[in-house]
Amino acid sequence: MTDSDWRPGLRRRDFLSAVGVAGGAGTLLATMGALGLAPAARADSPFRPPRRSDFSLSGRGTAKVVILGGEIAGLASAYELGKAGYDCTVLEARDRVGGRNFTARGGTVQTDVRGDRQTARFSDDVYMNTGPGRIAQWMVTLDYCRELGVPIEVFTNTNANAFIYNEAAGMREPVRYRTAKADVYGYVSELLAKATDRRALDGELTKADKERLLDFLRDWGALGGKAGNRRYSGTPRRGHAIDPGAGDQAGVPLGPVPSLAKTFADGAGRYFSFEFDYDQAMLMFQPVGGMDRIPLALARAIGGDRIRLGHVVIRITDGPDDVTVVYRDSRGEQRRITADFCIAALPPHVLARIPHNLGADVQNALRAWQVDTAAKIGLEYRSRWWETDHRIYGGITETDLDIGHLWYPSYGFHGSRGLLLNYFYDEDARKYGDLTPGERVRRAVAQGVKIHGENHRTGLTNSFSVAWHLIPHIEGAWAIPPIGTPAYRLLNKPAGRLYFSGDWLSHLTGWQAGSFESARLVVSHLHQRVLAH
Ligand code: ALA
Repeated sequence: MTDSDWRPGLRRRDFLSAVGVAGGAGTLLATMGALGLAPAARADSPFRPPRRSDFSLSGRGTAKVVILGGEIAGLASAYELGKAGYDCTVLEARDRVGGRNFTARGGTVQTDVRGDRQTARFSDDVYMNTGPGRIAQWMVTLDYCRELGVPIEVFTNTNANAFIYNEAAGMREPVRYRTAKADVYGYVSELLAKATDRRALDGELTKADKERLLDFLRDWGALGGKAGNRRYSGTPRRGHAIDPGAGDQAGVPLGPVPSLAKTFADGAGRYFSFEFDYDQAMLMFQPVGGMDRIPLALARAIGGDRIRLGHVVIRITDGPDDVTVVYRDSRGEQRRITADFCIAALPPHVLARIPHNLGADVQNALRAWQVDTAAKIGLEYRSRWWETDHRIYGGITETDLDIGHLWYPSYGFHGSRGLLLNYFYDEDARKYGDLTPGERVRRAVAQGVKIHGENHRTGLTNSFSVAWHLIPHIEGAWAIPPIGTPAYRLLNKPAGRLYFSGDWLSHLTGWQAGSFESARLVVSHLHQRVLAH
């Protein structure tokens, strides 16, 4: 092809056919890519879903794809490939889709690897997101919610009225976020203002810089006092013992203000940077009615007949022309499926236990991911006392207790019942995992009483807990990728006819967005390969 071939009047389709004839499918795809018509196959290119019409351009047919795992990466792969008519079959070992995206409701049953069986007895309007629970605005997960018609609502990730309680640091009672922030920012501002006034920063700042910095600190830290002696001595931002009201009720600011030494000793400031994180900053979102609305909508779009629940993969054999997966079906019978390609969307540590012929390098690479765990304990109460007694509407209380983070529900405000959720990681998750479900609840409640008093015990009606390292076929909360290593690069490429997919192959591990992004990348690569050959 020469430049003159791209002449006015030559229709795009004719042009592409001509390229295909002259240069073969590879040239065709390269040209389509340059025109923005080919599916993007680079992680940094915008995703273009495969389309049926891609095949009318190339003259090729779709392929049969077996997908291992009905978690988000597996479902998203089937969903996107399905748009172009690929013949996808999803094998999921559990009795539900979604994997870690697991919402417990009244009647949900879960038996862990030790045989402990729990049945959630939650009320009709109460649910518990035992896995993912929040979505950042920039994440592709929201695009899938939009596309699939999954309604969303705000998830409150930070709340000025929630508490901080650091028992090990010597706090004797919880402090509100707003109070802790006012004090920490106040004292930090005071110190910086003093250093500035005492000319300690003269080497760094011009006179004008110093004035601007002092202006900022006066405002940020609510500093009083005169120039040269600016001080933090409290602010109504801390909250009120009596709230402002009508007539002559001006309100009574909360006191007394703790000393600078006590403020820093409490360690409340350790939680403040969380809300600056790119993936945790407000606003955040959740699907209305439970996080599993996402996998359920994906499954509906894929078609239930393409998803096989209770099917456990027991061998993977990659061949020159196809790939064969042996599995045990939901009746316990051993069967096999042969496909043109396979997408293995299982966690790496689970995949590593399945016999395969993908080679020692792949096997070693699968072991290079560090598997972390996390646990959640959901406590349903007869009333929403955190709203009525503490005026906390959603958000998270942070603690240094082994119950970690304590989430208040961001749904069902002013309803009759509600669910508090404890969320914690690794060592603590293993410690609670070692307990029976009943013992976990008793321990978590005893910890919560330190923050909320007896309310935390008396109104409790139902509970459910998940320690992710004990959940069959998942056995971990997330796997930390060895980014930048040969192992990471190896599994981001296909092994013969098999592609790997999951949040563990992304820079968004522990996020559904990582699974969606990984699925998109794999789908793009696979589709390009099918079009090219
Ligand atoms: N994405 C997980 C969380 O938000 C790690 O806690």
